Amino acid sequence: MTNRQVILAELPTDRLEVGHFRLQDVPDPVAGPGQVLVATRYLSIDAANRAWMQGATYTSALEGGQVMAGGTIGEVVESDVAGFTAGDLVEGAWGWQTRAAVDARQLHRLTPRPGPLSHQLSLYGTTALTAYFGLLEVTRPQPGETLVVSAAAGAVGNVVCQLGKIAGCRVVAIAGGPAKCAWLTDELGVDAAVDHRDGGFRKALRAACPDGIDVYFDNVGGDILGAALFGMNLHGRISCCGVVSQYDTGSPAPGPRGVPGLLVTKRLTMRGFIVMDFYDGEPARKVEAQNELAAWVDAGKLRPVEDVMEGIDAAPHALVDLLAGGNVGKRMVHVAG
Ligand SMILES: NC(=O)c1ccc[n+]([C@@H]2O[C@H](COP(=O)([O-])OP(=O)(O)OC[C@H]3O[C@@H](n4cnc5c(N)ncnc54)[C@H](OP(=O)(O)O)[C@@H]3O)[C@@H](O)[C@H]2O)c1
Repeated sequence: MTNRQVILAELPTDRLEVGHFRLQDVPDPVAGPGQVLVATRYLSIDAANRAWMQGATYTSALEGGQVMAGGTIGEVVESDVAGFTAGDLVEGAWGWQTRAAVDARQLHRLTPRPGPLSHQLSLYGTTALTAYFGLLEVTRPQPGETLVVSAAAGAVGNVVCQLGKIAGCRVVAIAGGPAKCAWLTDELGVDAAVDHRDGGFRKALRAACPDGIDVYFDNVGGDILGAALFGMNLHGRISCCGVVSQYDTGSPAPGPRGVPGLLVTKRLTMRGFIVMDFYDGEPARKVEAQNELAAWVDAGKLRPVEDVMEGIDAAPHALVDLLAGGNVGKRMVHVAG
């Protein structure tokens, strides 16, 4: 057995390209004391993968020459560690490789749920939990309120849109290009969609929100955050989830006009969060949230939106393309099994 790895050969100084990665085959890893040998089934491809290349965030900065970091789902192949046996399905962050010897303390056994394993990433993993806590806990949306969501056709965004409808909001989605906007209104069921790549974006956003914006779920920062800020109603809430418009560049732009002036005059609340905040030290909250998500799936109110690429060799392109807006829903790479 060999282990195929995707190495981040060098850090990008501007836009990320497939050429920043290289593939290598190395001998099968051997599990040491306290470690479990796992075989990768899926890689989670996330916008945050690129943010980690910009420097330390809530996780340490990436360096050239490492196995590319990222969330993973796999199957235990060998284990002498209590609590893990061959065949167990586990999640972790052992990065872009087909096999790994992982410290058992860094693995979580997956709660079995009906449906394909990919749903663990699209419906019950970090993505959906980010949408769940970042919308429902951070902003507490009320029926009849206008909720605006950016990167709305993406992994986190599509779940926020669906949860916003469940909460009884009027949901206005922001996405790149007419095809995504049509998908959001016709397939996902949002009330309106606005194309941020269109020259008339600001005007179109105003027109789509005739009663103003009560809640803005911000996945992107930059000019789109700026446009949303000017449309916010008094006492509006902004959930700062991420800044994807500033990840794939060597020179991120400063924050938009209106901060802090509009926060003051409109009495806005703008709150950043990291999803783990909501369940670190209190794992029961994570399970509660997953159970509530599962109940909405059973009731036909929440559905998975997945964007799956095949084979570990596809991982570099999967990330580069996601940053360019190529995905609809949760992007992942199916590795094996
Ligand atoms: N706070 C947390 O705990 C947490 C956890 C997970 C994720 N996040 C954040 O959630 C956000 C979404 O991440 P994801 O992994 O779900 O990715 P994603 O939304 O599936 O993919 C990224 C999307 O960003 C959009 N985009 C790229 N460049 C843009 C730009 N310049 N302006 C506007 N939109 C742009 C693209 O959609 P369009 O084609 O529509 O432009 C692309 O599809 C990220 O900011 C990420 O950091 C935060």
